[in-house]
Amino acid sequence: MSLEDGATVSGIFWTLSPVVAITSSWQGRVNAQIAVTVITASIVHSVPRLIVGIWKGNYSHELIVKSKSLAVNLLTKEQIELVKRFGFYTGREVDKLKDVPYRIGVTGCPIISNVHSYAEGRIVNAMDGGDMTAFLVNIVDGGIIRGGEWMTLDYFYSAAPAEWIAEYGQKLSRSVAFSLELIHKIDYTPWTP
Ligand SMILES: Cc1cc2nc3c(=O)[nH]c(=O)nc-3n(C[C@H](O)[C@H](O)[C@H](O)COP(=O)(O)O)c2cc1C
Repeated sequence: MSLEDGATVSGIFWTLSPVVAITSSWQGRVNAQIAVTVITASIVHSVPRLIVGIWKGNYSHELIVKSKSLAVNLLTKEQIELVKRFGFYTGREVDKLKDVPYRIGVTGCPIISNVHSYAEGRIVNAMDGGDMTAFLVNIVDGGIIRGGEWMTLDYFYSAAPAEWIAEYGQKLSRSVAFSLELIHKIDYTPWTP
């Protein structure tokens, strides 16, 4: 029993999670990032909700806060290239959706072609976590596109080339340093709808 074991158990909630592309849009700018922090947050079938955790350093965080909407695109195993494209670089520096086929959904967020499935929605509340925000999302539309098996984080780590893992490891170290600065500075001001 230790903090280390606690961290291992926390990690279990990531390993089998679907790897998703979170898409966002604000005033004509569109973006996509990768995330594994998505959980179901409603037992009412007619009011589907998700909680989505987004780190504050991400360009997507800015677009999501401004637009109060996002789309969750579950990736298939064949879409592993998109994990590098969307998850290793920031939309502040590159147009990550250039040459990626997509359509605009009802919330204005991009819906990526050929994904396993998608759900898009509007933010109805949010909890500050210091370095990240947990967004409560009312889902308003969705669909199964390809279906079949989605990509999990475990699959990504087993199938990605070693140089990708090394590159992502370096990015993660920088993100952890950023998070350590902010993680205890929680803002308790309520979210304004
Ligand atoms: C496998 C993988 C899982 C990730 N999971 C998350 C996550 O759950 N939440 C998050 O905010 N960022 C996550 N990221 C990091 C973002 O995708 C990454 O920082 C991205 O470059 C942000 O892009 P943006 O600045 O254009 O928004 C993950 C990245 C990878 C590769």
